[in-house]
Amino acid sequence: MRRPMVAGNWKMNGSRESITALLAEIKAGIGAVTGTDVVVCPPYVYLPEVRRQVDSMPIGLGAQDVSDQDSGAFTGEVSGAMLKDVGCTYVIVGHSERRNIYGEDDALTARKFAAARRHGLIPILCVGELLEEREQGVTEQVVARQLDAVIELEGVEALAQAVVAYEPVWAIGTGRTATPEQAQEVHAFIRARVAERNADVAAGLRILYGGSVNGGNAKDLFGRADIDGGLIGGASLKGGEFLTICNAAVQAG
Ligand code: 13P
Repeated sequence: MRRPMVAGNWKMNGSRESITALLAEIKAGIGAVTGTDVVVCPPYVYLPEVRRQVDSMPIGLGAQDVSDQDSGAFTGEVSGAMLKDVGCTYVIVGHSERRNIYGEDDALTARKFAAARRHGLIPILCVGELLEEREQGVTEQVVARQLDAVIELEGVEALAQAVVAYEPVWAIGTGRTATPEQAQEVHAFIRARVAERNADVAAGLRILYGGSVNGGNAKDLFGRADIDGGLIGGASLKGGEFLTICNAAVQAG
């Protein structure tokens, strides 16, 4: 049985004050969230402060990105070793906002995935199609290409210590959630694609759904066979709603 997981991607939001209030709300309700991995992914600069505030709580820490490089003259970059040093367990790689706003391609994403692993971090690999790609009927080709770039560089066994997040770009921040059927279809495709290479890795792989998940739709999404939890954007900035989503994962698990 795969352990459910809910990760909050705070994106570029928050202040020391707002983060403290948000964490206080999450900490107050986290005791009821059992059998589920709960992770928060604040902006880089708040990682040490969040680490301090969640210390001894069952809340994991993730970063939103990582450099493909390990150290040196790479102004503005943050290495996997640094993330590990400040207490991260997870790191998001290949988020669609990195891919589509900052032009990060499959090859760079795969190198970031490799860098995360080199430093003992669990990568959360994001994949997902644009609206026009869905309308053109090429969703599976796009997701396969994004997945294969990582598998070709790191080998399928690397996915045994990774998480995949399916985030259809048209569903992110739009309020337009993929239906549970649409999401399940792509999740099943991802698992089957991995199973072609290694059935055991595929069976154990956690595949999260992301894109306008909220307290109202989480339960239905997480109830599907291949949806193992969620990567939550906007709703992870509201403590009560984030906890509702975490509890939906508990019920589905
Ligand atoms: P929203 O939940 O705001 O749609 O964002 C999803 C996302 O991009 C999480 O990484």
